[in-house]
Amino acid sequence: MSQHLDLQLSLLFTMTLTVSASLPAPQQVKMITQDENYMLQWDCNYGQLENPVSFTAEHVYYSDRNNEGLYKRVCEGSTECRCDFTHCGLDFHGSFQIRVRAEAGLLRSEWATVRFTPDEEVILMPPQVNVTTDKDVLTLTISKLVLSDKMKLQYRVLYWEKLKPEEKHMEVYASPHVPLSLLKSCTEYCVQVSLLSPYANSSNYSSLQCKRTTGCPFAWLGILFAIPLFGAFVCHKCRRTYPVYTTPESMLAIPSTPSLLEVQEERWTVAHVITPAIEPKNTVDKEQEQENTAEPQAPESIGQRSHGSVQDSGFSSGLGS
Ligand SMILES: *[C@@H]1O[C@H](CO)[C@@H](O)[C@H](O)[C@H]1NC(C)=O
Ligand SMILES: *[C@@H]1O[C@H](CO)[C@@H](O)[C@H](O)[C@H]1NC(C)=O
Ligand SMILES: *[C@@H]1O[C@H](CO)[C@@H](O)[C@H](O)[C@H]1NC(C)=O
Repeated sequence: MSQHLDLQLSLLFTMTLTVSASLPAPQQVKMITQDENYMLQWDCNYGQLENPVSFTAEHVYYSDRNNEGLYKRVCEGSTECRCDFTHCGLDFHGSFQIRVRAEAGLLRSEWATVRFTPDEEVILMPPQVNVTTDKDVLTLTISKLVLSDKMKLQYRVLYWEKLKPEEKHMEVYASPHVPLSLLKSCTEYCVQVSLLSPYANSSNYSSLQCKRTTGCPFAWLGILFAIPLFGAFVCHKCRRTYPVYTTPESMLAIPSTPSLLEVQEERWTVAHVITPAIEPKNTVDKEQEQENTAEPQAPESIGQRSHGSVQDSGFSSGLGS
């Protein structure tokens, strides 16, 4: 009876040994297909074995998968947990049986198999896009993929005015040379492109590119810039004058002085408006203004009054000229 038990135990022991000695097949086998690159990958968790583990990978047309003699080796005895299938001439529109097994010493694992159909599984990478600008046209040049020879790619173009991101336009083009026409001149537009394939998923969008169409009216822009500059100039003038002339002491001593000075200030400013030589005075004023801002302020009522009157005259003459 006890002999029988011993036999059973030893049998169990032997079986356990055999099972643990056998090599598990690679797990999580998948083909990563980026553009025209095919990389077979699998989980690599063979840490505690005595012999180093290596891998062998093969392929055959899917329809021939039961014919052992037709399999072609791609990697043999490789210690990496991946195998590059890029250069073994797999037909992009074909369908294949791919298999890989682990080997350690004399042990061989079962084959782990995956079916692989490149054109369906390809992961399209976002394209490179160059943008050139014209008055009312943005021209996109989209990088040519090797894949575009193998399948009919389309280009999904998303574009919008940078200041109106809620109004996006989307158009699909068959050519990688895309003129976006009838745009506004002198307006910044943003563009992104994604690739569409007839079988696989579309690519992500390319990185955002924003460019301004040409045809900006420089003269008009100049005036737009000149008005605030001119206002600033007038402000510098008034700030410069009142700390010099309207110190509280002098005004208290001679009551008639402030109104006289105000008249002087106004004339002074109007004279500068008409003179074309604004630039050099302006720079001088800027320096002086920096000094003056630190000085104590004149009494509120007088400061505001003179400020206001000078600014008004300045703006009206600025717009009038
Ligand atoms: C395509 O997209 C679907 C859904 O987003 C996803 O399940 C599938 O795995 C994708 N196919 C490829 C080849 O990436
Ligand atoms: C985009 O422009 C860069 C530099 O001008 C050039 O090297 C690159 O080939 C262009 N790409 C395309 C898709 O035209
Ligand atoms: C596409 O974008 C998603 C989200 O940003 C990212 O997780 C994924 O890796 C991208 N795919 C490719 C092929 O670039």
